Amino acid sequence: MEKERYTILVIDDEEPIRRLLQKELATDLREVLTAADAGAAREMIRKHWFDVIIMDLRLPGVHDLDLLIEIKDSLPHIEVVVITGHGDIDSAVKAMKLGACDFIAKPFNLDRMDLVVQKAHQRVRLSRENTILRHSSGLDQAPVQFIGNSQAVRDIKFLINKVSPARIPVLITGESGAGKDVIARLIHQNSVCSAKPMIVKNCASLQKDLARSELFGHVKGSFTGATESREGLMAYAHESTFFLDEIGDLALGIQASLLRVLETQTFRKIGEKEERKVNIRFLFATSRNLAEEVEQGNFNEALFHRINAFNIHMPPLKERKEDIPLLVDFFLASLSPDRIAYQVVDKAMDCILRYSWPGNIRELRNVMERSIILAENAIITERCLPRELLSASEDTHAPLTLESVERRHILKILNFFDGNRQKTAETLGISRKTLYRKLSQYSLG
Ligand SMILES: Nc1ncnc2c1ncn2[C@@H]1O[C@H](COP(=O)(O)OP(=O)(O)O)[C@@H](O)[C@H]1O
Ligand SMILES: [Mg+2]
Repeated sequence: MEKERYTILVIDDEEPIRRLLQKELATDLREVLTAADAGAAREMIRKHWFDVIIMDLRLPGVHDLDLLIEIKDSLPHIEVVVITGHGDIDSAVKAMKLGACDFIAKPFNLDRMDLVVQKAHQRVRLSRENTILRHSSGLDQAPVQFIGNSQAVRDIKFLINKVSPARIPVLITGESGAGKDVIARLIHQNSVCSAKPMIVKNCASLQKDLARSELFGHVKGSFTGATESREGLMAYAHESTFFLDEIGDLALGIQASLLRVLETQTFRKIGEKEERKVNIRFLFATSRNLAEEVEQGNFNEALFHRINAFNIHMPPLKERKEDIPLLVDFFLASLSPDRIAYQVVDKAMDCILRYSWPGNIRELRNVMERSIILAENAIITERCLPRELLSASEDTHAPLTLESVERRHILKILNFFDGNRQKTAETLGISRKTLYRKLSQYSLG
């Protein structure tokens, strides 16, 4: 199990108990801070990130269980261990009902306290890892391969090496399928946050009404339907990398709040007055032309300048065709189910090189995957390639199927709008959902 540093807060009005717990519970990996009353505790909670809180149930300045309720309401992910008076089983039971994870009666045994704290932290960690897993590239965290030797790719590798260790936000631009995700993951892997998972959110997938809450979190009762408090992704991205994909799709109102996070490294949950400090490395990607979006009033100008301070642009595959043979070899080797060495005959390679690759590397990968299946004796001929690759090189092709015409037309419109799916769907007269389905059906999404 990986060791993780964490901080606990001890809230007790008795100075000897605070001192004892601080001294006995602190380890190399565990920092212990203390607070003597509810006011000091609130202040601490605002300024620091705690995983576990140990609190005396009777504190001056608050009514019995109120502070516990307050903590569980605003920071549900924190586990609270309560210290109760000797024999005060009643309040212990009440505290557990209100969300405390365990209780310890005075006078307490330090070994047991230590164990209870460790267990509480383990629970916090597991639930955080679960959430992060749901929002990060998850199992996809294997080292990424960045294939290519064109001047463009070499320049980008240079930029990635330079910018990775810095904390500056990076905007990665390029057509769909050009490799923006790959670049983001490489930056994260080479950064100081590489030990932590990168949080990834595609802004196009944010639900309109819930977007703000998903990013920033909310406190219970802050809007209709907010029956529970919730941590936002900002909290989970703390001390790591937050990759906001398709940033051009983020609602304007939220763009302003995001700008604030970038400028002050603080954010505010919905319904909370206090700002919280965070330490997040931001990466952004878009297939849109953000400068144009700014001009049309669709994108916050200040945010654009802020995130565009460091831009990495991946040119489309058709502008760096010298990378194609390397990528073909790479995909044949990595996708081959049985480690067979596949060969591409010259004529098929000609078609691959001549094609315009509107879906970029993603399309190339899909074509190679398909051709491996169709290959006989591990030899890839033109017959293993999809029709649109052949028609690019030959005029005497067989009649097209309706599907391949549809695929080509969708690609044409998608490229016309710089990958903007909203406009593409509108122009084609289909819903965004249908467009997404078709993109995935044609291996373009
Ligand atoms: N330089 C590269 N080397 C190897 N694989 C790549 C490279 N660029 C992209 N890919 C692969 O192509 C696919 C599309 O890349 P991705 O980064 O998701 O594109 P984008 O985010 O720009 O739409 C992924 O399967 C990715 O692993
Ligand atoms: Mg992407």
